[in-house]
Amino acid sequence: MKDFDISKIRSDFPILSRQVHNRPIVYFDNAATTQKPIDIIERVNRYYEWENANIHRGAHFLANEATEFYEAGRSKVAEFINAKHAREIIFTRGTTESINLVAFSFSERYLLEGDEVVITAMEHHANIVPWQMACERKKAKLKVLPMDKNGILEIEKLPELLTERTKIVAVTHISNVLGTINPIKNIIETAHQQNIPVLIDGAQSVPHQKVDVQALDCDFFCFSGHKMYAPMGIGVLYGKEHYLNEIPPYQGGGEMIRKVTFEKTTYNDLPFKFEAGTPDVGGVLALHAAIDYMENIGLEQIAKTEHDLLKHATEKLQQLDYIEIIGNAPDKSGLISFLMKDIHPYDAGTILDQLGFAVRTGHHCAEPIMDFFNITSTIRISFSFYNTTKEIDNFIVALERVRTMLL
Ligand SMILES: Cc1ncc(COP(=O)(O)O)c(C=O)c1O
Repeated sequence: MKDFDISKIRSDFPILSRQVHNRPIVYFDNAATTQKPIDIIERVNRYYEWENANIHRGAHFLANEATEFYEAGRSKVAEFINAKHAREIIFTRGTTESINLVAFSFSERYLLEGDEVVITAMEHHANIVPWQMACERKKAKLKVLPMDKNGILEIEKLPELLTERTKIVAVTHISNVLGTINPIKNIIETAHQQNIPVLIDGAQSVPHQKVDVQALDCDFFCFSGHKMYAPMGIGVLYGKEHYLNEIPPYQGGGEMIRKVTFEKTTYNDLPFKFEAGTPDVGGVLALHAAIDYMENIGLEQIAKTEHDLLKHATEKLQQLDYIEIIGNAPDKSGLISFLMKDIHPYDAGTILDQLGFAVRTGHHCAEPIMDFFNITSTIRISFSFYNTTKEIDNFIVALERVRTMLL
């Protein structure tokens, strides 16, 4: 592994030197969105200052250059997640749009009345609602793989949940509430034994660990740029070529056509078939820069640093008898949801904010998880490699302050 110089890394992120409420900010809301390093901010600026042109359409220098950069971004993403072909990479607005695309187009092609879609008990709304909408449209049934009280999927129940009517399984790689890293390889193998394709919601995994879509053999994989140091508004759908060829387009217009007449339209090849309208070119260039940035630190280094932060924070929180951690799977990513005895998460969040700590409180767009644990919200801290154990120690002191102020 390369040297990991935390002060150098932190200096790459201008926002980390900000003060809020007259205190240095401690940013523990990385599962919602990560901060952006200066290189990536400058990459977007450079595009709009020097390189701006619409892609694929022009016969002029800038248009050709922008097209080249945009397609280089696609190749970079393909290489990053080890897709077989760059044409299996579709640019979207984010994980939510990627899942909506598949839920719509896949169900148009494959889902019939009485068929079934299987999701799990720990999905983000983005991997529930689009499937509910598809099932409603097609009169299909949504089935849910349960989890236990530690936030671990009851994976042994998967084979009995899958039937000859199951058309797709959609599961989150890492829970944004519980931090659980799901055994997706195992889930994919089980589904594939019955020829059922699997979509993975990778919003919380791609920023934190190496993902290899060919090794996983998943059929679709979705993630968001803004959770991995790129801007908001750019995301990725990976799909196996044969599925992307089989399913119909999601939106019409622009470059997604081959030939349009008033009588009939034929569609473009992959990936353009799924990219209607002017895409977020600046976002793709910045996503390319974000991948370079992460690779420069090293994916293993990122995973190790964040795992150490998780371990440190978990040990510290476990020493406090007024803290209850929600989500105690042995294999977790760098985020912790917890409750404070006799204190509402919103009240705790407000005071923590006053003390300079950016944490998230609420249902984290996963209301069924809240229902399962019979709660309405949690406090969630989520780490990036730019966080430090010192910040965690200060946070533990701040929790004591919250208690003195509120009890
Ligand atoms: C597990 C998971 N899935 C999907 C999403 C939705 O991502 P986006 O809002 O970037 O589309 C999130 C965002 O928090 C998430 O954590």
